Amino acid sequence: QKDVGILAMDIYFPPTCVQQEALENHDAIKGKYTIGLGQDCMAFCTELEDVISMSLTVVTSLLEKYGVDSKQIGRMEVGSGTVIDKSKSIKTFLMQIFKENGNTDIEGVDSRNGCYGGTAALFNCVNWIESNSWDGRYGLVVCTDSAAYAEGPLRPLGGAAAIAMLIGPNAPITFESKYRASHMSHAYDFYKPNLASEYPVIDGKLSQTVYLMALDSCYKRFCERFEKLEGKPFLISEADYFVFHSPYNKLVQKSFARLYFVDFLRNASSVEEVGREKLASFSALSGDESYQSCDLEKASQQVAKQLYDTKVQPTTLLPKQVGNMNTASLYAAFASLIHNTHSSLVGKRIVMFSCGSGITTSMFSLIIQDGQHPFTLSNIATVMNVSDKLKLRHEVPPEKFVEIVKLMEHRYGGKDFVTTKDTSLLSPGTFYLTEVDSMYRRSYAKK
Ligand code: ACO
Repeated sequence: QKDVGILAMDIYFPPTCVQQEALENHDAIKGKYTIGLGQDCMAFCTELEDVISMSLTVVTSLLEKYGVDSKQIGRMEVGSGTVIDKSKSIKTFLMQIFKENGNTDIEGVDSRNGCYGGTAALFNCVNWIESNSWDGRYGLVVCTDSAAYAEGPLRPLGGAAAIAMLIGPNAPITFESKYRASHMSHAYDFYKPNLASEYPVIDGKLSQTVYLMALDSCYKRFCERFEKLEGKPFLISEADYFVFHSPYNKLVQKSFARLYFVDFLRNASSVEEVGREKLASFSALSGDESYQSCDLEKASQQVAKQLYDTKVQPTTLLPKQVGNMNTASLYAAFASLIHNTHSSLVGKRIVMFSCGSGITTSMFSLIIQDGQHPFTLSNIATVMNVSDKLKLRHEVPPEKFVEIVKLMEHRYGGKDFVTTKDTSLLSPGTFYLTEVDSMYRRSYAKK
């Protein structure tokens, strides 16, 4: 098939949010979440919403807004790191949407591994369309997560969202699959071993280090593949934008700085003179030393700042405003780029870095083309309507946020309850949880 890629996208995030500045004041650590972690605001699910309701909302919205008949979907894959049921997939809940039209002929289930499931789902759909098994219909990828963390330093790293992406040929957002590179290994960096709790266990320091090591490894492999096929080296200058998995913005700044440092090590003349001077003293560090060096981190962030502002900053809006959306984070960063620059994206190359703890990572690149209505970049930006969705949010004070989190902790894994059904903050068309019955069966309604 020609130009297989993303035809259409939509995003949903809960209207309830807490400002990071209010939260850090509440926690008496002024500056840490905003300046230290680089975050602005954090969306969260109340008792009315979860990964299933958010994905029901976003899939329904995508089909409606792009005028796609639900019979035209032949494969649907869900990526999520949020566990509601250890067996029944989120995908099976989404089949309710297709029931009306009688379409039960849809392949695919859920992919789960940290924040990587969405990328696995995306690769599966792209591969399906490029394969002999393809039946001519669209693929649909759904990334849905509600990231909630225990009280303490991790709490500001939460977030929640669902993203749907329609996959098919002749797409405006196409894959350069030949350069795609992965790095997968075993690490106890972030995991969810306590099945009675929604919260992960995180080794913060290790988590940052393995993220940067995997980034290095993927980037080097990606560069090698590019050079082999294109006959010229890949350097940062070959791409217009870099989109990273974004648990918090400071890590994104560090990641881009790391690529700058790798470029400097591979080809010093490719970076500016000031960069060469500032980084020269770090060139003899071993790999391990370089991951631990705060001085290198600071110096490389400083010299990469100008390039960061043009090649990364336009991707940071939603991750900073919504928080860590786990599987949806990378694609929300990409959605931010479309929102900010859709009118000037045609012909541009975008490098994406997907990272799930455990650890599973891939780097791949996209090329933007004109597309045909309704599958154009400007229509995707219109449908996603990021500005209005951000404007319509309801800010909750930290005290209220803590109260809601306590209720959610109590409800996690529970049965035999009904929700308030107070949908006053939800936009029309939003799905919400109404009840979990005595057999743990979940019911949803649409506002
Ligand atoms: N004002 C301004 N800046 C501050 C302040 C303050 N009051 N306090 C701290 N900072 C800065 C620090 O200097 C540091 O900046 P730096 O990294 O540029 O040096 C930053 O804020 C974080 O401060 P730490 O002291 O390192 O904070 P802590 O030890 O509490 O750890 C965190 C922070 C984010 C919890 C980290 O340890 C962690 O766990 N990270 C990994 C978690 C994660 O989500 N990983 C992603 C894996 S994949 C996934 O998405 C699940």
